[in-house]
Amino acid sequence: MNDALTLVKKTAPVMPVAQFKSLDHARACAELFAEAGVPAVEITLRHADAWQMVKMFKDLVPNALIGVGTVLNRRQMLRAVDEADFAVSPGFSRELSMLAHKTLSTYIPGVATATEIMAAMAEEHSVFKMYPATAIGGVALLKAMSGPFADAVFCPTGGISQANYHDYLALPNVHCVGGSWIVPSEEALAKDREGYVTMLKDLYQ
Ligand code: 3PG
Repeated sequence: MNDALTLVKKTAPVMPVAQFKSLDHARACAELFAEAGVPAVEITLRHADAWQMVKMFKDLVPNALIGVGTVLNRRQMLRAVDEADFAVSPGFSRELSMLAHKTLSTYIPGVATATEIMAAMAEEHSVFKMYPATAIGGVALLKAMSGPFADAVFCPTGGISQANYHDYLALPNVHCVGGSWIVPSEEALAKDREGYVTMLKDLYQ
């Protein structure tokens, strides 16, 4: 989907992958992201209040694209279509892909193997979350995939950090990386909010 390409270009260099501990934590990060001009956020469905967090981000960070992550089933996908700007899954499912196409939604499926990339390309996808990137081969795997899948674009996620994200971004088939390391905990925010504002502004300027 071309929208997925636009999305990864807009969110570059890093898609924040958020797993908030509470609504208060989500609100504090939404205010931080709005102030710092973060262009896109993936909010994972790993908290009972995750959908409320999505709404909060839509309200408090109006200039960013707000996505739903860890979309595993049809019900979640249909809700994401209504309530978010894009959806992301950790793996590939033909059913979710077809729903995304049918609803004209921006969707990034996850892949980890050549077989999954082939299955997703057969459904007209060319932009993928490579997950869990570090555990399955990291930079070496992405380099290897550029041979048979010259047109595929990846957003590797999982185990990426401040220390190694540049290694991923140096690859031509990587347009952005995903990571939770740029989403501060409440404790980190209380200690050094200004430091995070500066770090995020530098990242997205
Ligand atoms: C995800 O869902 O993409 C990952 O949990 C994020 O991985 P990370 O916490 O290692 O950045």
